[in-house]
Amino acid sequence: MSETWIILGATSSMARVFIRELAGRGDALLLAGRNMDDLKSLAQDCRLRGAAQAEAVGFDARKPGGFAALLKTAQEAPGVLNAAVFVGSMPDQAEIDADPSLVDGTVTDSFTGPARFLQMLAPELETRGKGTIVGVGSVAGDRGRLANYVYGAAKAGLATYLSGLRNRLGRSGVHVMTVKPGPVDTAMTWGLGPQPFMTTPEAVARDILKGIRKKRNVLYTAGIYRIVMLVIRLIPEPVFKKLSI
Ligand SMILES: NC(=O)c1ccc[n+]([C@@H]2O[C@H](COP(=O)([O-])OP(=O)(O)OC[C@H]3O[C@@H](n4cnc5c(N)ncnc54)[C@H](OP(=O)(O)O)[C@@H]3O)[C@@H](O)[C@H]2O)c1
Repeated sequence: MSETWIILGATSSMARVFIRELAGRGDALLLAGRNMDDLKSLAQDCRLRGAAQAEAVGFDARKPGGFAALLKTAQEAPGVLNAAVFVGSMPDQAEIDADPSLVDGTVTDSFTGPARFLQMLAPELETRGKGTIVGVGSVAGDRGRLANYVYGAAKAGLATYLSGLRNRLGRSGVHVMTVKPGPVDTAMTWGLGPQPFMTTPEAVARDILKGIRKKRNVLYTAGIYRIVMLVIRLIPEPVFKKLSI
């Protein structure tokens, strides 16, 4: 029987590739996001590719009043229910430094909005006793850096949240996987110039699917970032604070 996936941030470059794979294997898809026109055409594409069902549903991380409608639609789905979070925004750090009000939205998009929805969804998955949650964080959450420390703080919050959720839901047979991409060639990194070990949305989607099969807890993609971030985390703070990496 096909499984149902709720995709938060379905219009993201990474999500689009992941969704195509799920559609091709006949899963049912609840494509959640802000841009309904884009989501509807994505849903149409998924149906053509073989999705058992594909529906566009509104989700704005900054408007939690709308979360209940998505939850209700998800609760009506039969069988195995899964969720993947791709939502995130990364304003330029200099813009946030100039306008501190941007902190709130940045943290809401990458952390508190998705976490609040997952918190609402968790009892449903616990009752079903199976399913997978994939949360896309970032290597930026592993250490606060000059270039993007507010975004990094939001992703660190998400990673800690997912770690606790994994601890909770693992007891009911539900698996939670945290994904930590390094730089990926998407809209988010356009204009940032060459990035070390940059990967593609296709490679990220492949890694995520493999990680789900292997029930990985924390997945770095590209894989080399597991080592890169280990080294970065080991740099003593007195040295790190002087670096511009
Ligand atoms: N690209 C990278 O190098 C990189 C590296 C590490 C981690 N990540 C993370 O990977 C995930 C996917 O990013 P991407 O590279 O595919 O970038 P992207 O194409 O810019 O995707 C970002 C997604 O987040 C959605 N979003 C932003 N704010 C939202 C809100 N308030 N409510 C609902 N949806 C919202 C966007 O929706 P709209 O289409 O409506 O704008 C879009 O679907 C993000 O969480 C990002 O932080 C990216």
